[in-house]
Amino acid sequence: MYQSSSDGMRKMDKMALCLMFLCANLFAFNAANPGYEDTDDDNGGHSTEFRPMGYEWNIAELEYGPDMLKKIYSLSKKRSAFPIGIRAIGKKGEKVEFDAEFYKFYKALPEVLKTLQARLESVLNDNGIIGVVTGRIKSLSSLSTKMEKDGITDYRKITDIVGARVTFQTIDDILKFKKAYVEAFNNTVNEIRCYGICGPAIGSVDQREKIYWPWKSSGYRRLHFKVALPEVDTAGEVQMGTPYMTLWADWEHDVVYKGPARFTENENVKKYAQRLAKYYMMLDDIRNEMLPSCPQILQESLKESDSSLNECLFWNDLRTNM
Ligand SMILES: *[C@@H]1O[C@H](CO)[C@@H](O)[C@H](O)[C@H]1NC(C)=O
Repeated sequence: MYQSSSDGMRKMDKMALCLMFLCANLFAFNAANPGYEDTDDDNGGHSTEFRPMGYEWNIAELEYGPDMLKKIYSLSKKRSAFPIGIRAIGKKGEKVEFDAEFYKFYKALPEVLKTLQARLESVLNDNGIIGVVTGRIKSLSSLSTKMEKDGITDYRKITDIVGARVTFQTIDDILKFKKAYVEAFNNTVNEIRCYGICGPAIGSVDQREKIYWPWKSSGYRRLHFKVALPEVDTAGEVQMGTPYMTLWADWEHDVVYKGPARFTENENVKKYAQRLAKYYMMLDDIRNEMLPSCPQILQESLKESDSSLNECLFWNDLRTNM
């Protein structure tokens, strides 16, 4: 009698423990990060940094000047950010060599960005997906800030100096594009980070893919590819999202990321960020289900025209250059 009741208790204890474990897991799951380290606090950059296709980049506008060069040089020289042969040159000569190397690198970036954007455009066109391509090259001050903050001594290891962004109408379009891009340019994709786009991780996926669900811990949602840029011996970033994702990310960038510590550390601000993320996610879900698809004849006209008239009237409720 005593024995069986004790067994019963043990069973109940086990069940309670099991439930607690389940709850803890569910709680952790709801906290948005199923097991991946999430130390990168850069949420893609503000939309005002991104320029339309065909924009003529000029490195002078990227704060390319003696002060910034000096700063990046001083952050670089701590370890070997450039070939041994160059480091062996004397103090003065070393500086000159670094500048030349760095100038060559930065001067090549507009063309590298253009090539990447052309690839993105080709995937949109070949698959009849509507998306707006923009791009950015990181300014030198932003580069040096990131090197300093992350303790990175080789500027080529900052893998979002060249960034392209594609903004889509719906989450389904992002997923269609993801599949098509990986099929067309598979060997250029080094890493896939799916922040709140791919659904919860079920079973094994592409080894390169990291899934964050329902969003990155900050509340950030977008799809990121890290892509190889062999021409300049670094990697770039392709960001894919919707206008609602941009609205959230721009708010977070200005108010939290760049904001004072009293905002960053405040629990109510963190909660608000999660609620805003959820709100925009719901709007994206509605858009995904309810946006009428634009007829072919209008889409074709849209592709050909360079006027501001938008035959699909697509996104007329939201800015398109996001
Ligand atoms: C792309 O390459 C990866 C290996 O990097 C491979 O696992 C995957 O099956 C490839 N996908 C396609 C669509 O070719």
